[in-house]
Amino acid sequence: MSLLDEIKVKAASLKKTIVLCEGEDKRVVEAAARITREGIAKIVLIGNEAECKKVAPHVDLAGITLIDPLTSDKTEKYAQILYEARKAKGMTEEQAKEQAKDRTMFGALMLKAGDVDGYVSGACHSTANTLRPGLQVVKTAPGIKTVSSCFIMIAPDKSNPYNPDGVAVFADCAINIEPTAEQLADIAITSAKTAKAIAGIEPKVAMLSFSTKGSGNDDKFTQSVPKVQEATRLAKEAAPELALDGEFQFDAAVAPEVGQLKAPGSSVAGHANVFVFPNINAGNIGYKIAQRFGGYMAIGPVCQGFAKPLNDLSRGCNVEDIVATVAVTALQAE
Ligand SMILES: CC(C)(COP(=O)(O)OP(=O)(O)OC[C@H]1O[C@@H](n2cnc3c(N)ncnc32)[C@H](O)[C@@H]1OP(=O)(O)O)[C@@H](O)C(=O)NCCC(=O)NCCS
Repeated sequence: MSLLDEIKVKAASLKKTIVLCEGEDKRVVEAAARITREGIAKIVLIGNEAECKKVAPHVDLAGITLIDPLTSDKTEKYAQILYEARKAKGMTEEQAKEQAKDRTMFGALMLKAGDVDGYVSGACHSTANTLRPGLQVVKTAPGIKTVSSCFIMIAPDKSNPYNPDGVAVFADCAINIEPTAEQLADIAITSAKTAKAIAGIEPKVAMLSFSTKGSGNDDKFTQSVPKVQEATRLAKEAAPELALDGEFQFDAAVAPEVGQLKAPGSSVAGHANVFVFPNINAGNIGYKIAQRFGGYMAIGPVCQGFAKPLNDLSRGCNVEDIVATVAVTALQAE
């Protein structure tokens, strides 16, 4: 069974309730029906029957809970939750009442209120518009200050000696553009958690750079090597039990012979399976190289670090992507 099928089977056993915020999108309505039919999760779809029937007339909505923020009797309660969360930032009660009717905000407020276990949106909204309600009201998990994302990378087979499990985690390829050392440390710790919970691997985290243990020095230029070194120190301090080390070049992270030569004594060098890139440029380019040249399949971006699970879809997503993201979200809610 593929990892994705395993994730769906596990999700089905958890019976979580996930809100999909975009009932105006045909793909979302089709995915909602499929997830319900296959028992992967219980779905709350934000929208109304007439609208769903208009975009997807062929779809059977049986078993899906439809909720429209414009007519729901919960909107007032959610507006109050929003007001409490944002009043210190200057939000008025009137503004909260208005904003609670927004579908993505409504979904985030359902999650905050505990009325659903997870949130998935983004099929027809930008990443910033999808994640902002979560950042504003759901906020980060205890001990974590940074929401980030990772891709679970699945190899076409297990023949690559540098990735014997056939699974790896790449982060952050989609949210934090130029993370600080503190943010990189958070990304490393949350990626390890995702690797264990969703990818089912025992994490060995490599903090990536163009330098291995001080071999390269860019002090005069971008300070990126000292940043990764500091992030490594902070992550080790915050999670001493974690197998994590750096800074490593990619080959020192995955090739035992190079790791031994350049980072002797490191238990991670040569054996890493979770890769923390120094910024979004490196991460985004890196995962796409693995996809296109290496034939890897990328599941994600999986958002991590939120107090409760929220995930962002790509606007180019298809029905299968939405089903997969809902299954991953259900596992994060475990
Ligand atoms: C994450 C992102 C979406 C947030 O954008 P934004 O809504 O404009 O963020 P803002 O700066 O307005 O911040 C909104 C709130 O979220 C918080 N926040 C922003 N980014 C955060 C993060 N990574 N972790 C935790 N909190 C964060 C801010 O502190 C702020 O909180 P406050 O209002 O309570 O003070 C933004 O970083 C982004 O657009 N990243 C790149 C996305 C992208 O283009 N990806 C490519 C797709 S592959």
